Amino acid sequence: MAAVVRSSDGSDPVTETAIRVLKAAAVSVLKCPMALTTMLYKAKKSVVSMSIKTYLDTPPTEEELRAVEAQANAIIGEDAPLHTVRMSKADAEARYGMRIYENFQMPLPASVEELRLAYLPGRALDYVPDGTPMLPSTGLLGGLAITGLKFKNKKKGPEFSFKLTITAEQDAAARSAATLGEASTCEPPAAAEIEAIDNEPPSGEGTLKAKAVAEAVTAEVEAAPAAAAASAASSEPPSGAGASAGDSAEAAAEGKQVINPWAVEAGEGGIDYDKLVRDFGCSVITEDIVTRIENVTKRRAHRFLRRGIFFTHRDLDLLLDRYCSGEPFYLYTGRGPSSEALHLGHLIPFEFTRYLQQAFNVPLVVQMTDDEKFLWKDLTLEDAYRLGKANAKDIIACGFDQRKTFIFSDLDYHSHMYRNVLRIRKAVTYSQAKGAFGFDGASNIGKVAFPATQAAPSFPSTFTIPFGGRTDMLCLIPQAIDQDPYFRVTRDVAPRLGFEKPALIHSKFFPALQGFSTKMSASASNTAIMVSDTPEDIESKVGKYAMSGGGRTLKEHQENGANLEVDVPYQWLRFFMEDDEELARIATEYGAGRMLTSEVKDILIAELKRVVRDHQAAKALVTDETVEAYMRCRALEFDAPPAKPASASS
Ligand code: TRP
Repeated sequence: MAAVVRSSDGSDPVTETAIRVLKAAAVSVLKCPMALTTMLYKAKKSVVSMSIKTYLDTPPTEEELRAVEAQANAIIGEDAPLHTVRMSKADAEARYGMRIYENFQMPLPASVEELRLAYLPGRALDYVPDGTPMLPSTGLLGGLAITGLKFKNKKKGPEFSFKLTITAEQDAAARSAATLGEASTCEPPAAAEIEAIDNEPPSGEGTLKAKAVAEAVTAEVEAAPAAAAASAASSEPPSGAGASAGDSAEAAAEGKQVINPWAVEAGEGGIDYDKLVRDFGCSVITEDIVTRIENVTKRRAHRFLRRGIFFTHRDLDLLLDRYCSGEPFYLYTGRGPSSEALHLGHLIPFEFTRYLQQAFNVPLVVQMTDDEKFLWKDLTLEDAYRLGKANAKDIIACGFDQRKTFIFSDLDYHSHMYRNVLRIRKAVTYSQAKGAFGFDGASNIGKVAFPATQAAPSFPSTFTIPFGGRTDMLCLIPQAIDQDPYFRVTRDVAPRLGFEKPALIHSKFFPALQGFSTKMSASASNTAIMVSDTPEDIESKVGKYAMSGGGRTLKEHQENGANLEVDVPYQWLRFFMEDDEELARIATEYGAGRMLTSEVKDILIAELKRVVRDHQAAKALVTDETVEAYMRCRALEFDAPPAKPASASS
């Protein structure tokens, strides 16, 4: 049996189809609710491990599992058609309710207006993201053998796994038959048919949470279909910063945006940054400040500053004043290592931080919050730790000066931070944390305490060894705007602890290929260009998925031009193209309809290939030893003017 190499995220028509057949079988045999039965898979060479997570109280018996297997094989034996049904999101939700979504698919970005549903008559109707390959009928699967029947009782309910072994021949046949489901192949099924497939959530004790999820989903469908279940069912905290779960549901119902460290949801027209500035109360980076930075650093401002991509701040002007009068500062930024693969959006703050480090010639600390991801995600501590080290390679590849840069894992470095962490924990009450982060009675206490760990690096005394005992350094924190709640709390406690408030500089979000209403997600690799993508991946993703603001017909385009505000190819060029004049030319020509989307996409593809190639080349030079060198707790080498006798915190 020849091994089959699968695409990097494991998505291929055989797996995608098999997992749906398996879910349909599980729903019918085990009587679990559709929306609460989640499909997971991991593909390794020729073996695909699939697991189904249910919210059932009791684990299925061996017999029941065999029945699931038999049912799945029966569906395959029938060679049942697997139809594509396309319909508007509003119609689909009105007709079928939220049962078409697996809980972790929600909320969908507001930009998704039309849904692609996979329909197995009488058995299943599931939302499928565009771009997912699927077989037109189940017979092509051949068979589904339960080889590694395994069963885990996870916090979200029992999870059982199956294995599917695929031969090269089977795979090739499947690939040539696969469809991307671009057009409907049958009429939408009746609501009653789908309702009949579904099951009520179980009522036992261990499933109270499942019920809560189900209720939240239903309640929110009624209130706000577009943003339903924003906080209901993901592995993210159930409620967001600055708002309780109820508040964010309400906010979403009114079409308001919800932005916090765990959820980014835009209203209808994308993210309203002016409103964000008003709500958050931060200051806009004016042209004056940009000019001032240019004067102080004696170099051109980074394109992210010139183009308003880093757009707001807190006390940056004050930091510049004090820097000019001889006070030293350091940079602090971080990453939550939740995935192996980084996308280009993840690199934005690091690219900007690299510029700041070079322009100001200052030390930098980078926090890898492996602890945070352990507390919030379904990750083991060791996996989170390992991902932190893996991500450090990509961060180092951005070009930080090793002598001046300390990257640390919270797991390793927390003992050094503990004194400041405790001081901060003592200064923040539970009510304050709840107000800022939306914790509730169901939040584990690790989460409640975590903000102090992200706050502590804002104070120089957290880095006694790296800063050689200097506690008079100011701190500047480049970050995406969603991290601001952490640092509002930090700035609030600082004076009470006798510390300086850190200065902040915020970026806007890097839009997903599909458009503006959400951040990109590393788990949906079709929404993003991964730093590991090949030139072919880049061509095909930009070609297929980049949302265009161009006219729908050539005539319309020539008459009205492109809407640059929503055009992803143009907006991405603002992030990556260095040449201001060329960018301005594209804006004029494309905006006037004299340039076509395809031409702009080609230019973008060339830029992205360059960025990704350069990144991969830089990363190839980063060895495990390099990572160790950056992560070793040591005195950094940096020039700072001698400490003043009366330092600020005396
Ligand atoms: N919480 C951030 C994340 O999930 C990681 C982080 C830690 C961070 N410290 C930071 C980000 C400071 C910006 C600035 O990605």
